[in-house]
Amino acid sequence: MKLRLHVWRQSGPGAEGRFVEYRPEHVTGDMSFLEMLDMLNESLLVRGERPIAFDSDCREGICGACGLMINGVAHGPTRATATCQLYMRSFKDGDEVWIEPWRARAFPVIEDLVVDRTALDRIIAAGGYISVDTGSAPEANSTLVPKRDADGAMDAAACIACGACVAACPNASASLFTAAKISHLGLLPQGQPERERRVLRMVAEMDASGFGHCTLHGECQVACPKEISIDTIARMNSDWLQTLLKRSGPRSRG
Ligand code: SF4
Ligand code: FES
Repeated sequence: MKLRLHVWRQSGPGAEGRFVEYRPEHVTGDMSFLEMLDMLNESLLVRGERPIAFDSDCREGICGACGLMINGVAHGPTRATATCQLYMRSFKDGDEVWIEPWRARAFPVIEDLVVDRTALDRIIAAGGYISVDTGSAPEANSTLVPKRDADGAMDAAACIACGACVAACPNASASLFTAAKISHLGLLPQGQPERERRVLRMVAEMDASGFGHCTLHGECQVACPKEISIDTIARMNSDWLQTLLKRSGPRSRG
């Protein structure tokens, strides 16, 4: 298949970027999108040119390292699919494909298609964990979890921290990511002791890191490769508001 690629090239964080056109050869439908870029990079190296920088690790849709804006869509045209799981059979001969990095103030470009996503790590560090005492693990069945809560926690835990929700959001909000982490822990009995502190700290860090606010466009859940539901944002907002009301006391509530 013959394609015209327009790839965002930017040599460093402060450098000016621009689209460069490439026409990769020998592309087949069985290739993954990243394998197609690998092959293009090999041809660039043979020509003595700088290869295109892009992120990937597991290439199995589980680590969240990959993530490209493909024709203006986070992770490309296939629903519920991370970029590394996207195959070239989703494109046809003669297609023009525009490839860009995530665009968000909180995700500065490092090089070409690679962005700095440590802002997501800071949100996790602010409270996305359960503090435990050391010692042996408790007996698994000593804390019973209702099936509905276990299912909800598992669905939220599927988030791979790829950042597609931020890239797809017109406000570059990290609400879906943050809400997934808050829901994952907040639905489980083990997450209750730190539930209030967690939501206040993680939401505050999300704001401090320069992400925008959620205005319920819903683009995030459409772009999410793990189909995290926007319902998690409602849960996060409810937890946050209830915690604030509780801490502000009865006089302020009146
Ligand atoms: S919520 Fe979905 S899109 Fe956002 S970081 Fe998690 S997996 Fe990626
Ligand atoms: S490379 Fe790990 S999710 Fe894509």
